[in-house]
This record gives sequence, structure tokens and C-alpha cells, in this order.
Amino acid sequence: MDTLTLCVDNRLTEVVSRCHQRLDDLFLLRQEAVLLGRFDDAIRLLNCFKELHHLHMDFEDERLIPRLDELGDRGRWPASLYTDEHAKVRDLMKKTENNLLSLSRARLSNKDLRREVIYFLDKEKTFKGLCEHHQEREEAGIFPELDRLTDTKWRTSIIEPFLTEWDSCMKRNMNIVNGIDLL
Ligand SMILES: [Fe+2]
Ligand SMILES: [Fe+2]
Repeated sequence: MDTLTLCVDNRLTEVVSRCHQRLDDLFLLRQEAVLLGRFDDAIRLLNCFKELHHLHMDFEDERLIPRLDELGDRGRWPASLYTDEHAKVRDLMKKTENNLLSLSRARLSNKDLRREVIYFLDKEKTFKGLCEHHQEREEAGIFPELDRLTDTKWRTSIIEPFLTEWDSCMKRNMNIVNGIDLL
């Protein structure tokens, strides 16, 4: 996973969609760890995912959603819808974390373990579906809308500090991720 660099015109659609791809990769990697019964690694990967996910969501909450709101909700969806979905994402992230910790503590084996892993992944479908749906909505709504309604100067002023933070958080977390070998 490389670092994110500024792109032509600093379009939010490009920059934040690339964050979404990195987050999707981490989500899948954690599910692989769960499938293999590597719960300590799955918990480490969930912590990496959580830190990066919250960083990007805070950026959207503090910089993007208020700007869309200021511009008068001219978009396909009102700014408040993104905020509401973030609250649901936070709630389901917490539930997934609790479910993973219980699965890890149960110390199951063989058939019991396999069944509980299937049950865990089934329960997680709602969380995964919400993240995918929410990202698609942002990539079709708020990002292109702000790209159209704002100038490069404003976008650069918010994207640069965010990318500095994101890249440093990503580097720190990739040291952990790269130390996990799921072969
Ligand atoms: Fe979001
Ligand atoms: Fe997002």
C-alpha cells in the first residue's frame, strides 16, 4: 500500500476514494485472518482499520460535510445523511469489535470454531454492506459535488494537512500489517 499523493486539481473524488480502497483492502485482510482462526492478528488488523477509518471519517465530518451544508444542500443527498450514516458505521464497528473479541475469547476448535466463524462473518455482512453503500454514496454525491462547487485553493488547504496525517498513520499501521503473514 503506497502513500497517497496530491493529484491534479486536488479532486476529493480521487483522493478520498483512494482512502476507501485502502480501507477495503484492510477489511478483507482482517476477514482472511478470521477465516484462518488467527484472532490475535484479526484484532490487530481491526485496530489498524479502525484508526484509519476514523481518521478519514473525522476529515469528512469536520471538513467536507459542513462545507456541503454551507453550500445549501445542493447535492443529491442532504449533508445530514452522511452524518447519520457515520453514526451507524461507528455503532456497527463497535459491535464487530465486541463480536470479534468474544470469538477470540471463546477459544473454540474444530466444528464449533468453523460454525462460529461462519456466524461471525454472517453478522458482519450488515457492517460490510453499510460501508460499501456509504462509500458509493460519497463517491457519487458529496465528493464530486464539492469538487464542482469549490476551488482548487480551498481543496488544497484541507487535503494537504489531511494527507500528511493519513500518510503518517498509514505508515505506522503498515508496519503492523506487514508483520502479519497470513500465508
Ligand atoms: Fe464517510
Ligand atoms: Fe468516506
